[in-house]
Amino acid sequence: MSAYRSEYRRSIESPEAFWADQARRLPWFKAPDTVLTYDDQGHARWYPDGELNLCHAALDHHVEQGRGDQAAILWDSPVTGTKRRLSYAELLDRVATFAGALRDLGVEKGDRVIIYMPMVPEALVAMLACARLGAVHSVVFGGFAPHELAVRIEDAEPRVVVAASCGIEVDKVLPYKPIVDAAIEQSAHRPEACVVLQREQCRAELGSRDHDWDELTAKATPADCVPVRATDPLYVLYTSGTTGKPKGVVRDTGGYGVALHYSMEAVYDMAPGEVFFSASDVGWVVGHSYIVYGPLLRGCTTVVYEGKPVRTPDAGAFWRLIAEYGVKAFFTAPTAFRAIKKEDPDGAHLREHDISSLKALYLAGERLDPPTFHWLEDLLEVPVIDHWWQTETGWPIAANLQGLEPMPTKAGSATVPVPGFDVRILDRQGQDAPALDQGSVVIKQPLPPGCLAGIWRDPQRFHAAYMAAFPGFYLTGDAGYLDEDGYLFIMGRTDDVINVAGHRLSTGEMEEVVGGHPAVAECAVIGIHDALKGQVPVGLVIPKDGFDGDELALEQELVARVRERIGPVACFKQVLVVDRLPKTRSGKILRKLLRHIADGAEFGVPSTIDDPASLSDVHEAMKARALGSSEQARQV
Ligand code: COA
Ligand code: AMP
Repeated sequence: MSAYRSEYRRSIESPEAFWADQARRLPWFKAPDTVLTYDDQGHARWYPDGELNLCHAALDHHVEQGRGDQAAILWDSPVTGTKRRLSYAELLDRVATFAGALRDLGVEKGDRVIIYMPMVPEALVAMLACARLGAVHSVVFGGFAPHELAVRIEDAEPRVVVAASCGIEVDKVLPYKPIVDAAIEQSAHRPEACVVLQREQCRAELGSRDHDWDELTAKATPADCVPVRATDPLYVLYTSGTTGKPKGVVRDTGGYGVALHYSMEAVYDMAPGEVFFSASDVGWVVGHSYIVYGPLLRGCTTVVYEGKPVRTPDAGAFWRLIAEYGVKAFFTAPTAFRAIKKEDPDGAHLREHDISSLKALYLAGERLDPPTFHWLEDLLEVPVIDHWWQTETGWPIAANLQGLEPMPTKAGSATVPVPGFDVRILDRQGQDAPALDQGSVVIKQPLPPGCLAGIWRDPQRFHAAYMAAFPGFYLTGDAGYLDEDGYLFIMGRTDDVINVAGHRLSTGEMEEVVGGHPAVAECAVIGIHDALKGQVPVGLVIPKDGFDGDELALEQELVARVRERIGPVACFKQVLVVDRLPKTRSGKILRKLLRHIADGAEFGVPSTIDDPASLSDVHEAMKARALGSSEQARQV
């Protein structure tokens, strides 16, 4: 039997023995006696009586093992023209001191801390300092607007917010402090303090609640690691669901640490001392798992990049970083390579750099579309690996496991289920679908270590969103199929979640914002195909009676409204005013059909439609406006 098959089989047939072995790889304060229990919803809880601290496992442990001088972080910021190297010893020193500073502000085990920062080393310092104290961090991506930050502040009720004075997007300096102030103003919960990292590109004005990062840390004494239970929360990371309220995915500590350590070896084939580069952002799950915790738990060096795939300064940026830092494994989203391909279709920039250190390229966040896959395969001499996962799972569900048994790749497939994940395809009746038949992708309980422990303070929502549809299985929300060789193909979401430039967004949330405009009677927001970003949202709106007829003004107001409420990351730039929307007789808007029409796909008239003429109306309106790519929208 192949190495993969035997390891996979053991992980499914004897999960406790399998994960007991993996747990031994971490430095516990108290090793767990019990490996697996279940909560009252039948959801797995790993290592309930183990005690550890992930900051200790990621930093102190390596320094104790003699890695103090090795680079932990290589920060590269073309947008500020800065580079910085932080060794494990230096990073530990900064983290312990910042943990002391947070403790001085009253942060204790179990308290929440919201972090709103760009890709600077201090973002990692803040996360690890929280972990050191046993406090729960919640990082919010900088592209979200004050309202979104306010929703998270209200839900997480942080004692402290840690922010930077600004972020930098290519050549735009974006002040973050006014966003934080506005969010706190809008929120019913008021954090006691806000720590601000002052950046020279834009210094923030500090108020009575605010503390300057440098001044605060200058006064602080280093804090020791606080032991926590394996099942204690390490962080809450908010992600889009089907409603306007984001879901606070709760990650535990021990299971997460064990899973990440395992994945660094089995999936990414990384050994201590090697360099890992994940071009994502600490605001996303990829950043949590593979910029911060995964590489550091494994004793690797992590590259922290404050820049874009293109325009900072050109489409050769990633190749330069790989060559300069001797990166062994590189991870980003397919959309980044579509941007590079557009600017440098022949890979001229690649020829300027020696990327021989690179052993594999990993892509996730959205499906790796076959044209981009083939372009990369032709360009590079290393495996191009699509792997599938989600914020909820925290690490890959399906991959081509380079550290276990590299397999031939198939365009459009994320290859095979990762050990620990019992992936099934179910039909509508909850029966196993035959090979090649598309169905709902689910994971049989127990989910392996590392996956979500729940939704922050909302067990009902957790049950309804993931557990209720197919009892005994976790619902991923994705549709897909397995082929005869057991390769998994993920084809898209089954809910209102869309994927814009590798960012997960909720059309339901956008509908709430658009529908809240006083001139809008009814609306639908759908994700349509976009050559660069994968998908972009489009709003279809029916104005209220008495609308003055100025469609352009309404469109502009709605675009501004979504940008103001959700943020620029939503990329909501296209609105179409229509007279009616196709609906079923029970009044449900036929969103899937609208998507097909917008994408120019074949569509039939469903028998359930209430008013077939509404379909041709919308069709004509879409054709007339040539709804299309985000590039076109930007020029409108
Ligand atoms: N802080 C503030 N604003 C941000 C931001 C941040 N951290 N990140 C993005 N934005 C803003 C951008 O400035 C842009 O604003 P604009 O409408 O004023 O131009 C908007 O949000 C959309 O940004 P983005 O989707 O990044 O579009 P882009 O055209 O600037 O770049 C790509 C396109 C493909 C190059 C870029 O999206 C990219 O690198 N994607 C990779 C995504 C990724 O790594 N995902 C993680 C999963 S692995
Ligand atoms: P996020 O929680 O932001 O990581 O988004 C998770 C969702 O992105 C998944 O449920 C999928 O819909 C999509 N996704 C992520 N990676 C892939 C992939 N490799 N192939 C297909 N879809 C993916």
